[in-house]
Amino acid sequence: MSKPTYYITTPIYYPSNKLHIGHSYTTVAADAMARYKRLRGYDVMFLTGTDEHGQKIERRAQEDGVTPQAFVDNIVDWIKELWKTMDITYDKFIRTTDKEHKETVQKIFKTLYGQGDIYKSEYEGMYCTPCETFFTEHQLVDGKCPDCGRAVEKVKEESYFFKLSAYQDRLIQYIEDHPEFIQPQTRQNEMLNNFLRPGLEDLCVSRTSFKWGVPVEFDPGHVVYVWIDALSNYISALGYLQQEDEAFKKYWPADVHLVGKEIVRFHAIIWPALLMALKLPLPKQVFGHGWLVINGGKMSKSVGNVVDPSVLVGRYSSDAIRYFLLREIAFGQDGNFTNEALITRINSDLANDLGNLTSRTVAMIEKYFEAGLPELQEENEFDESVKKLVEIQIKKAEDNMEKLFFNNALEDIWVLIRRLNKYIDETMPWVLAKDEKSFPKLAGVLYTLAEGLRIVSIMIEPFMPQTPEKIWAQIGLERGAFTDWDSIHSWGVLPKAVKAKKGENMFPRIDKEKELAILEATHTTEAAPQAKEKIQEEPKEVQQPEYITIDDFSKVELKIGEVIACERVPKADKLLVSKIQIGEEVRQIVSGIAAYYTPEEFVGKKVVVVTNLKPVKLRGLLSEGMVLCAADEAGKLVAVGPLGDIVSGAEVR
Ligand code: ME8
Ligand code: MG
Repeated sequence: MSKPTYYITTPIYYPSNKLHIGHSYTTVAADAMARYKRLRGYDVMFLTGTDEHGQKIERRAQEDGVTPQAFVDNIVDWIKELWKTMDITYDKFIRTTDKEHKETVQKIFKTLYGQGDIYKSEYEGMYCTPCETFFTEHQLVDGKCPDCGRAVEKVKEESYFFKLSAYQDRLIQYIEDHPEFIQPQTRQNEMLNNFLRPGLEDLCVSRTSFKWGVPVEFDPGHVVYVWIDALSNYISALGYLQQEDEAFKKYWPADVHLVGKEIVRFHAIIWPALLMALKLPLPKQVFGHGWLVINGGKMSKSVGNVVDPSVLVGRYSSDAIRYFLLREIAFGQDGNFTNEALITRINSDLANDLGNLTSRTVAMIEKYFEAGLPELQEENEFDESVKKLVEIQIKKAEDNMEKLFFNNALEDIWVLIRRLNKYIDETMPWVLAKDEKSFPKLAGVLYTLAEGLRIVSIMIEPFMPQTPEKIWAQIGLERGAFTDWDSIHSWGVLPKAVKAKKGENMFPRIDKEKELAILEATHTTEAAPQAKEKIQEEPKEVQQPEYITIDDFSKVELKIGEVIACERVPKADKLLVSKIQIGEEVRQIVSGIAAYYTPEEFVGKKVVVVTNLKPVKLRGLLSEGMVLCAADEAGKLVAVGPLGDIVSGAEVR
């Protein structure tokens, strides 16, 4: 009999130059689900990938002086590396620059054009390049993009349109008939009330003003709108309209598309309309999760408050980060990311609850029964309640997993872990160990603990894939029949003669104060490697050395400033304009460092500022001071900052 299938997807990521911990949230969640379903016997297809076309990428590549392809290749390698370090077990990684994908997109476009769902007309309106989204004038908020608040551009071009409006009634009907289609419920209401019921307009689905995209096959001056290109990945990855379409036949429709809440609209309106037009079944569910926020704002590449997942994984292990992400944030809602919350979770849930349960259980078996637990084991008055709770918590955790309520499922498991720790205090094995007559009872207690630990270790596997084997090794197990998910449904699967062997400390306690200081210092992310072939700047003049007195030097007022906001200066390739906090005051400073820092990277940096320099206007922008930079002979610039922790406004002398 063939296994049931389960097809789960993440969005495909924009390869800007780095992913932050917020991005890894969707992927970690999808991975936990994929692993869970595999453990439950499903034939899983877990798809992730990258969304590589569009004007934004074309411009980024241009700024870096490389071809768009070289730009994306470089970053995609880095993204794949990141997923490896986070133990992401995707079954396929799709790139929208893959030949097969592009062919499928072209065929889809042609089919829809052929049947009249796509038609040619003229587009006039507003476009937000960072969001790759069209807006009508009245959708704008204060003339800016309603999604990200940035400036939009007026575009007027001959374009193809998709008859989205024709699908409005069918979409409403479908959503009303399938309440599980858009989850959570709040997103469904939002789609119906804010978008569908007010009425859909036809969607502009081609661009002529740039080249980096899938060309429309029969009209090559046009490239396919990136969202049409991107959404098609979910079926092109399976071979839709390709020679090899076995996977498509096997896995489509998807069981769930996991997406962040800001892109539910594309997945719950445009995508189903496209599928209806193609006469394909719709995905069973689109689940819109919340955002990881820092200080109330969405963590995003453009805001600059990004936290680099690889730094965190390097310090605390991928299991700890995965646990934190899925435990701390209620799936579907926003959750605050703080270093403090992360360390607290690691210390209390991992080091204390799980770590202690493991080490106490293992240490006691080793100490009292070096040769292994004896056959003769007696029950005690607490066993029944533990066994009952095990059964209840397994059921709850399984139900929560089905609903993608990861944080609840983890809480269900931790209820069990804490119960087992309490059981140690109730049964007091160290007291039983004092009297030989109590040994059968002691053995019974330790068996309950070992069996409980075994069950827990299996249940955490989807979330923390490295930890179970470390636990198993300590209670004499190897992956096999005793570690199957199904084995947790009956109590007592662990062979009686448990032999224990203490292992490494899986989650050492973290010194919170010390660690917070270190994390503070690595606050911003390290940039992903930049594409290699950079445009060389003209060498700067080399200054002649000449002595000055200390009085000369003290004429220059230098202070520590913290970059709190930063943007590119429009039409000036080299310039960034920053808002810099210097003690109580905030100054605007223009710097010629755009070739070396993106605005996102620069925000959060502490720099040295010349504060008594006469203000000047650069490209019409007032610049009140100068950021000190080190420059090498090739003209490469690196901003100079303090080596230790110091407040902004501090004097440099
Ligand atoms: O939207 N917290 O790509 P993307 C939680 N290419 N999730 C976050 C987040 C945060 N702070 N920041 C980003 C795109 N994400 C398109 C998708 S799919 C056909 C095309 C999530 O790189 C975000 O919500 O901007 C989204 O689900 C995913 O990261 C990729 O975002
Ligand atoms: Mg986005």
